[in-house]
Amino acid sequence: MIHVLLATRNEHKRQEIAALLGPQFIFQTLNELPAAPQVIEDADSFAGNATKKALGLVRWLPNQSLDQPINYILADDSGLEVDALGGAPGVHSARFAAIDRHDGGNSPDLDNNAKLLRLLANVPAEQRTARFRCVLALGRVAPQSASQGRPEIQLFDGTCEGRIDFAPRGQNGFGYDPLFLPTGFDRSFAELGEAVKNKISHRARALEQLRAICARGNSGGRIW
Ligand code: IMP
Repeated sequence: MIHVLLATRNEHKRQEIAALLGPQFIFQTLNELPAAPQVIEDADSFAGNATKKALGLVRWLPNQSLDQPINYILADDSGLEVDALGGAPGVHSARFAAIDRHDGGNSPDLDNNAKLLRLLANVPAEQRTARFRCVLALGRVAPQSASQGRPEIQLFDGTCEGRIDFAPRGQNGFGYDPLFLPTGFDRSFAELGEAVKNKISHRARALEQLRAICARGNSGGRIW
């Protein structure tokens, strides 16, 4: 068995990842480790934030006495990149509407979507291209005696191309889903629902790369 700590408190993510990676993994989330350090997501890239979250835990864990062993940390960061806005909201996706407040808090999805529509008000359909991006950072937890030096982190990047609609549509999902029309569909992620989204989403694609690595090297309780 391979024990993985997910750097999230989101139980929905645990289920999604567990379903994709298979039964040879046992997952914990930060809900089971309330003393884990908080990481400030202030990097200027998804890879930077995911790496920062993974590194923080890889360095903290060897000094803890745990009920269950942890072999790997899996952290993720994701968001929306809109071409007409030079890649914004990007790493600021969760707090787009309140980005000028500098209080670090996230904004309600409705406010983020309203701001996006306002900024794109004069942008025609063919220039409203965008993508969701997800970067996963997988860190190996070394025993305390071997935890000196730079920890080993592997990154996996998944994208889902599409465009931003002129008004929100659909009831499913979260975040920018009501405005995002994935390429090849005339309906938003919020209309298409979880079954379709989980096949083509940025997160599913990043996880698929990770799954391929796991399938190659998971003998002896190790991914690499
Ligand atoms: P996080 O990486 O889960 O914290 O997501 C950052 C932000 O990006 C979210 O708060 C959403 O605004 C946006 N986002 C990330 N993934 C999705 C998605 O699948 N659908 C809609 N919005 C998303």
